[in-house]
Amino acid sequence: MNKIKLRAVNLSKRYKNGKKEVYALSKLNLEIDRGEFLAIVGPSGAGKSTLLHLLGTLDCPSNGELFLDNMNIARLNPSQRAEIRNREIGFVFQFYHLLPEFTTLENVMMPGKIRGQKTEDRGRKIKQRAENLLERLGLENRMSHRPSELSGGEQQRVAIARAMINDPQILLCDEPTGNLDSQNGERIINILEKLKGKEKTLIIVSHEHNIVQKADRILEMRDGRVK
Ligand SMILES: Nc1ncnc2c1ncn2[C@@H]1O[C@H](COP(=O)(O)OP(=O)(O)OP(=O)(O)O)[C@@H](O)[C@H]1O
Ligand SMILES: [Mg+2]
Repeated sequence: MNKIKLRAVNLSKRYKNGKKEVYALSKLNLEIDRGEFLAIVGPSGAGKSTLLHLLGTLDCPSNGELFLDNMNIARLNPSQRAEIRNREIGFVFQFYHLLPEFTTLENVMMPGKIRGQKTEDRGRKIKQRAENLLERLGLENRMSHRPSELSGGEQQRVAIARAMINDPQILLCDEPTGNLDSQNGERIINILEKLKGKEKTLIIVSHEHNIVQKADRILEMRDGRVK
């Protein structure tokens, strides 16, 4: 079985605002085991989203290293990073980032299509899986809507289905229940709990008590560091 472990070594991310430099992350060290459920908490501006973007290979660190098992993913080129991301990582953005010109179903299927839809059979399977995920998330009547026709909470659930379409080994979620009522929040928590049993690595930025209390470990961040 391919064992995937994440390890950050002295990970830093620096932004320039005019002449001023801001460290969004500062020499952060962290190890996350395969199958671990990690909750990340901390005040606004602590660097939570920044860390998640780096772990998800969506952004590169200014300094430090980031390993996926023995592979230094901070040193890969953009297309290598994109391939790993598509294969191993699901990402639920804090602000969803759905593609506006595509329907709910098309948005969810997109990473599956990128991964390869060489055969008709595979195309059908991706569609079935997308429909199944959307049903589980209570969106069976929203399949052909575009994002602008969906509520915030509906868009959030579409983003979660999209992150799960390729059955990723690592799922990164930035406030995945931030816009949901308690019933739909519960739906998400149930789905995430099922992933735990499948040895998926789950890293979630959340302030939701119901989520944080289920985590194996809580990482508290402040000013770009682990508190
Ligand atoms: N593109 C950017 N350019 C400049 N500064 C940035 C940029 N992105 C983030 N920052 C700064 O880095 C710090 C960490 O931001 P980040 O988005 O990681 O915080 P957060 O913990 O996710 O906060 P929130 O809970 O509000 O989502 C903040 O001070 C922010 O202003
Ligand atoms: Mg954030």
